Amino acid sequence: MRQPSPPVQHPVQPDLSDSIADALIEKGYACVPGFLSPPRVQALAAETLRLWDDGEFQFARIGSGPNRQRCPQVRSDRILWLDNDQLSAPQQIYLDALDTLRQHINRATMMGLVDWEGHLALYPPGTFYKRHIDVFANARERQLTTILYLNPNWRPGDGGELRLYLDGAEMEPYIDLEPRGGTLVTFLSSRFYHEVLPAHTERLSITGWYRVRSTRHF
Ligand code: OGA
Ligand code: MN
Repeated sequence: MRQPSPPVQHPVQPDLSDSIADALIEKGYACVPGFLSPPRVQALAAETLRLWDDGEFQFARIGSGPNRQRCPQVRSDRILWLDNDQLSAPQQIYLDALDTLRQHINRATMMGLVDWEGHLALYPPGTFYKRHIDVFANARERQLTTILYLNPNWRPGDGGELRLYLDGAEMEPYIDLEPRGGTLVTFLSSRFYHEVLPAHTERLSITGWYRVRSTRHF
């Protein structure tokens, strides 16, 4: 007799994709808890800490091309770029979930997102990323920023909130988003200035960008 096939586990609950797409259309940003389940977040966090212990992370830089430089007054996190062709199993699950979400967002918004690039990030206690915007002259393909937090036990007082400025270059109003494990934040990369407030405990995340096909640069 044939074995019944195991139930297919949808990588992203469809209603979560709907609420993210709706929020992007309505407000330009979305913050959803539980994008990945706690065991999946835990697996990503454990692996990220192993890579950190192995010395795989580098000081993050700012700018692009010849202007790229370390600038610890602006950002002091450490990062490790992901190679989308050489992912671990937990990373692959996350990227599959992001790809399902990408297709859903495309259907809802016609943004034409074609792929995603990103890195692991680790903020040791005392580190931060000052107010900035993610799109610069040489990276206009970046349309939508995604951040998945990997801190299973984040509590108020641990710091490292993401401050999102809601009115262009104005300093107010803003909202502070808590970097709780499993929460996914997405926002239009060219619209929102944002910063990472100083972390008081080690803060882990996967940050990346959905991109459109590269166009001519003027
Ligand atoms: C970034 C960034 C925000 C966060 O890496 O560009 O703004 O909450 N990260 O980690
Ligand atoms: Mn940023």
